[in-house]
Amino acid sequence: MKILITGTSGRLGGALKRCYEPRHEIIAPSHAELDLARPDDLEVILNGLQFDLLIHCAGMVNPDACERDPLASMQVNAESPAQLAGFCHQRGVKMIHISTDYVFNSVLESPLGEAALAHPINAYGRSKLAGEQAVLAASSNALVARVSWLFGGHLPSFPEQVLKAALSGQEVAAIADKWSVPTSVDDVADWLEQLMIQCPTASGILHVCNSGQATWHEYAETTLQLAHELGWIPDVPVVKPQALDGFAGFLAKRARYTVMSNARLSQLLGRVPRTWQEALRDSLARSL
Ligand SMILES: NC(=O)c1ccc[n+]([C@@H]2O[C@H](COP(=O)([O-])OP(=O)(O)OC[C@H]3O[C@@H](n4cnc5c(N)ncnc54)[C@H](OP(=O)(O)O)[C@@H]3O)[C@@H](O)[C@H]2O)c1
Repeated sequence: MKILITGTSGRLGGALKRCYEPRHEIIAPSHAELDLARPDDLEVILNGLQFDLLIHCAGMVNPDACERDPLASMQVNAESPAQLAGFCHQRGVKMIHISTDYVFNSVLESPLGEAALAHPINAYGRSKLAGEQAVLAASSNALVARVSWLFGGHLPSFPEQVLKAALSGQEVAAIADKWSVPTSVDDVADWLEQLMIQCPTASGILHVCNSGQATWHEYAETTLQLAHELGWIPDVPVVKPQALDGFAGFLAKRARYTVMSNARLSQLLGRVPRTWQEALRDSLARSL
């Protein structure tokens, strides 16, 4: 298959490219070659490329940057994906559009299915929700894959930050009242490839995450426990719990509960995705 993947300098796009390269022909335009801040230029650029599938990972993903420039976030996360989807629809090409659990801010604490009401509370979430809706309006056979709390790949993420703090003897602190599902980029790559082969017509919204849920605090504790088991740290430091309310480090509001149910993904794959703890153990062990 010829797969066009956007955002390959980023965490998820990079992981998909590395995973698929041995079996597929990958076209991976850089940010400068396919600039989402210039929606009107996209069609001309896409016209020069031949591909059977588009996996759209690129975007403005920092919630605080989106809060500072909501117009740019709408352009990059909604207007440009709509252009890409329109092009794919005209060409009869499948598009997988990567979205986020940040479209949610649930008051109920039970895992959210694809039909759950989206209610973003920051500019990033609003732009990603607008992007999902625009993509599905432009291309009814597109698949919107919502992912959450990604780890793994070539860029440091939350586990590496926690380990860095622990290894340098700093206090480790993490928010203990905000829940989501840590998810391995390598698992996302495997699931999407399996879906392309087994269920190429799957469309609409799909929650693509490992099984289970965690707070940042539980995520940090598990990371440190696994690092100890791998022999990286002599003992497991205590993680200081922090509260989301009044947390000084964020400009954009953060949703408290965005845990997604992966029941539809399980049904499509014919198996329940492994837990995030198993995936994290693998990811850390492989980075040794
Ligand atoms: N990371 C997470 O925990 C998480 C959670 C939920 C959902 N997601 C979603 O997953 C997807 C991938 O996220 P990620 O973690 O891989 O992000 P990332 O590591 O920050 O990578 C973002 C990618 O987008 C590219 N990009 C940014 N602005 C662009 C523009 N104007 N034109 C073209 N390319 C542009 C970046 O290129 P340069 O680096 O060259 O600028 C980079 O390749 C996104 O759709 C995000 O919303 C991520």
